Amino acid sequence: MTSELGTLRGRDLLSVADLSAAEVEQVFGTAETLKREFRETRRHARPPLTGRSLAMLFQKPSLRTRVTFEAGMAQLGGTAIYLPEDAVMGAREAVRDVAHNLERFVDGIVARTGPHAVVVELAAQASIPVINGLTLREHPCQALADVFTIRERLGRSDGAVITFVGDGNNVYHSLALLGAAFGMEVRLAHPAGYSPNESIVARAQSLAEASGGRLVFGSDPYELVAGADVVYTDAWTSMGQEAEAEERRDAFVAYQVDDRLMAAAGPDAVAMHCLPAHRGEEITSSVMDGPQSLIFEQSENRLHVQKALLVELMA
Ligand code: CP
Ligand code: NVA
Repeated sequence: MTSELGTLRGRDLLSVADLSAAEVEQVFGTAETLKREFRETRRHARPPLTGRSLAMLFQKPSLRTRVTFEAGMAQLGGTAIYLPEDAVMGAREAVRDVAHNLERFVDGIVARTGPHAVVVELAAQASIPVINGLTLREHPCQALADVFTIRERLGRSDGAVITFVGDGNNVYHSLALLGAAFGMEVRLAHPAGYSPNESIVARAQSLAEASGGRLVFGSDPYELVAGADVVYTDAWTSMGQEAEAEERRDAFVAYQVDDRLMAAAGPDAVAMHCLPAHRGEEITSSVMDGPQSLIFEQSENRLHVQKALLVELMA
């Protein structure tokens, strides 16, 4: 990630590190405008994507990503076409053939896949923008909405302290990269054996060095939430890892975000979760529905930030 402002039109978003800090600011600026307009009238007077269409290739289930992109396209004047797993890539048709068909039909693609290599191949083959809607490596749309939400709440990102409690997974990876680039201190409290990807951590470290941010790792959630502005968690078992669910439940049992952990973070700390949540596992209902929860605002911001991304990439 650099500080340069390139044009976003026609670009792919496979990783949050594909965007410079200035480009992220541009997306956030557009998101603020779209959010304000939408909140006032639930309409946009001059929909910027009239006549545009988006194909959505989803090899895994989704509530937020699917609905925010589909509704977002409609609100911007365009159309989204949802293509569930079997209709598309891999088994039925080669990824490159999917790309060379869709580029002739639509203006952009959102893809949710298991292996990250699939979205990389799709983007390499397609001449239209490809947006990563979650892979096992990254969830860039989520991190953009998360940092937007944190800035909205705290009024700053520089020096903000985010403690991610749980698995060093896709959601952590994208948050660490973007948080590091925005000067945040991103801490991870995780059990042995559930470390993040080393190459992502190395990239995030170098982004943190350039921005004045910091990455911190440890195993004790209580120690790591002390002084945190945000306590963030995600599922212990991500989609595609279901065979490990029991083993993971045992490994993460001491990593639940509950009232005691939020009290250790302090009364001003907020709780965040990308959702879907497993109430009673990684987070309790008392935290999710309690006064420190920022979770549903965070979810709402997926809509505004992704609409901004669509406008910047496809208008
Ligand atoms: N947070 C998120 O991406 O939710 P979905 O899996 O429902 O899209
Ligand atoms: N880490 C989770 C995020 C879901 C939005 C998963 O990959 O299933």
